[in-house]
Parts: sequence; structure tokens; C-alpha cells
Amino acid sequence: MPDALYEVTHIDNIRLGEDGQSVVILDQTQLPNRTVYLTLRTAREMYDAIKKLKVRGAPAIGICAGYCIYALARQLDGTDYTEFAAEFHRQKEFLNSSRPTAVNLSWALTRMERVVTAGAGKPVPDILDRLGRECRAIHEEDIAMCRAISEYGLSLIKDGDGILTHCNAGPLATSRYGTALGPLFLGKERGMGFHVFSDETRPLLQGARLTSYELQKAGIDVTLICDNMASIVMKNGWINACFVGCDRVAANGDTANKIGTSGVAILANYYGIPFYVLGPTSTVDLSCKTGGDIQIELRDPDEIKEKFYAEPMALPEVKCYNPAFDVTDHTLISGIVTEKGICRPPYTQSLAELFAQGK
Ligand code: MRU
Repeated sequence: MPDALYEVTHIDNIRLGEDGQSVVILDQTQLPNRTVYLTLRTAREMYDAIKKLKVRGAPAIGICAGYCIYALARQLDGTDYTEFAAEFHRQKEFLNSSRPTAVNLSWALTRMERVVTAGAGKPVPDILDRLGRECRAIHEEDIAMCRAISEYGLSLIKDGDGILTHCNAGPLATSRYGTALGPLFLGKERGMGFHVFSDETRPLLQGARLTSYELQKAGIDVTLICDNMASIVMKNGWINACFVGCDRVAANGDTANKIGTSGVAILANYYGIPFYVLGPTSTVDLSCKTGGDIQIELRDPDEIKEKFYAEPMALPEVKCYNPAFDVTDHTLISGIVTEKGICRPPYTQSLAELFAQGK
């Protein structure tokens, strides 16, 4: 694999600190201009890192949360089980409240808490050992999931295709390869070439700051466009498929992803372009029957009015509506690409089958 491609796909974005009581993350808010690593030690620092998108992307949030709750638990060593379990639960709930939409956050924290519950009556150091194994397993499994998703995704496109993507679902948002960008990196590794159009993704510019950065660095042909240019590139005939990530997939296939995704799906449908959602099964939440059950995060109006501008672009008293995600209706989705295979409509059936025993 070329060095540049390896550096992008194997970026060291989240790891446990050497003391085992902290977590080191690559601060995604500083990219593409600065590569800055942060060490998170307190629950507040961890909460803020997730809330402020220093670590972001559904799978990456889950991986980070697993390491964070483990690091915090290590700081509790020496307490008795009841006290340990109560404090663990309190910190888990606190971290879980940092962002509501990506299910991977609660998925990873709940998975970690199950280890504590199962360890009732055991010495705390033993439970800590198991917690350490669990958070590493969450990370390792994500690496394998991204690779499998990349393989399935690659089977949907051919050399030379034009691909449109929204937000960032690459290695920074996951672990290695990524989900929506994974097939493009894997294809590049195999000598294939794609023409990728990256929506800048207002208001926090994950497409401009992160997706175009990752693809450009890896030597993949990428063209950055503003979100409102998706229609013209589709009309021009430059797009063969849309690949996007996901933050929560409901049982019927309705999918929450970065704000603007549903608009891309509606355009793709109009132009007859296949629209694929790529994500691990850890992002599927069967307890949400439809997208209506998914809580959408609302963020600070300043992200629209001021952030990234030299001076405010609206009067301070102007009202803003700043939802961080929207839900793409399942009828607009051509396929949901998971590590276990590609689900096709009807999703209520194909997603349920994915979770059925033996799959
Ligand atoms: O607000 P963000 O940057 O965390 O939103 C990220 C997305 O919407 C991604 O597409 C999604 O989390 C999938 S990342 C593999």
C-alpha cells in the first residue's frame, strides 16, 4: 500500500493513554490545519471532547466512550463493588448525555456497563481487567467492521465512477478505512480510481475539513463542493452513486445522518442515482421503529452565524434553527451496507434478518 494511503487509513485517532487512566484523541476540530493530540483525564474533559466534536463520527464516538469510561473506572480502583458500580453508572450516564443522536455512544457505554453488572461480587481489579478487554474489543471489532463494509461497498461501484459523499465517514470518524469512504480507500489500494465529490457540509464543514483532507492526502481524486451544488453535479452526469454514513438506523431503514443527507437522497432519487448508507450494525437501533423515534441533536446558533467567519454573518437577535442531523426516509435508500452484508428493501425484513440468530 502506498505510504500516503496507509497514513490516512491507519491514522491514530483514539487510544488509551499510557497510564491507563486517560484517553488520547486527535482533535478533529483543528484539522486540516493542525495535527493536535489531546489527553482527556476527567469526565468533564471527555464529555466536552465529544460534545464539541473534537472526537466525532458515530463509531469513533463509541470507541472513545469505551476507552473513556474504562479510564474513569481505573481511577476508581480501591473502592468496594457497590460504590464502584454506582459511580461507574453515574459517569456512564454523564458521558451518554454528551450527544443524543449517534446510537454508538450509548451502545458502547451500555456494553461496558454490562461487564460491571456481570462482575457483581467479584473483586474490582478483576472487573477492571475485563473492562480493559471490552473497550479494546470494541475498537478491534470496529476495525474489522470497517474493512468488511469497505468490501461490500466496493462491490457496488466500478473503476472510474463518480461518487458523492456528505459529511465525513472516513478513518477519522471510525477506525481504519471508515464506512462511506472505506470502499474508496480499499479501491485505491487495489489500483482503482474514483472521482469523489465531497459536500462541504454546513455548518461545521466536516466534508471540507475532514473528507477532502483524507481523500486528498490518500491520493484519491476529490472535488470539494458547497452543499447546494450537489444537484448540478448530479445533473451533469458526474455521479454514479452516493455513499453516506449513518448515526442511527431505525428498524424500518429510516436513517439519521448529518444534516443535509436527506436532501442529497431526494436529489439522487430525482436523478435516478443509487443512494447507499454505509455503517456497522452497532449503528442500527431496532428499538426505534421509524426515524420519528430518533432524537435529533440541536446545536448552538453561533455555529451558523459566526463560526468560521471573520465577523458575524447575521444580527445577534436573528433566530436560528440548527439541527445537527436529519432523517432520510427509507424509501430513498437503495441499500444499507453493513459488515454482515448489504440490506435491501424492505428494510424491516432485511435488517431484522441481519440480527436474527446465526447471521
Ligand atoms: O456531527 P458528526 O460530525 O459527528 O456527524 C457525523 C456523521 O453524520 C457521520 O456521517 C456519521 O457519524 C457516520 S461516521 C462513520
